[in-house]
Amino acid sequence: MKKETRDELIRQAVEIRQRAYAPYSKFLVGAAVRTASGKTFLGCNVENASYGLAVCAERSAIFAAITAGEKQFECMAIATQGGAMPCGACRQVLSEFNPDLPIFIVDVDNPEKIVEGNLWELLPGAFKLDEKGKNKSKAKSKADE
Ligand code: THU
Repeated sequence: MKKETRDELIRQAVEIRQRAYAPYSKFLVGAAVRTASGKTFLGCNVENASYGLAVCAERSAIFAAITAGEKQFECMAIATQGGAMPCGACRQVLSEFNPDLPIFIVDVDNPEKIVEGNLWELLPGAFKLDEKGKNKSKAKSKADE
């Protein structure tokens, strides 16, 4: 991927973070996902007075893309203060579409220093079903090694 494309995705994640609705945690998150077709979809976290209803930025971005008919994801940028990693629920949702998704973690206070990761490193044992609803995730514990 071209450096300008990557930098633009990061810039958009930082920018959309300002739209976060997070009056309870005050923790603003912005996410930008790039599709194989070259489009970008954005998301921010949306909280609620009923706390458990909060939706993360990463899932907001993925759901916006799916709603627009996009399913192939190339990479995602996530912007927070401190460079937070995506939560477990978001990792599972991202993994549904691309278990190897490259991720750029952005600390908005230090946007020059991007931490690059890959979803497989963050969620190697993702739960997966095939089209018939049969389990595709493999059980692998320390004891098997
Ligand atoms: N949050 C995200 O948007 N993404 C994550 O991966 C972790 C947490 C949001 C949810 C909530 O609005 C706030 O950050 C604090 O947990």
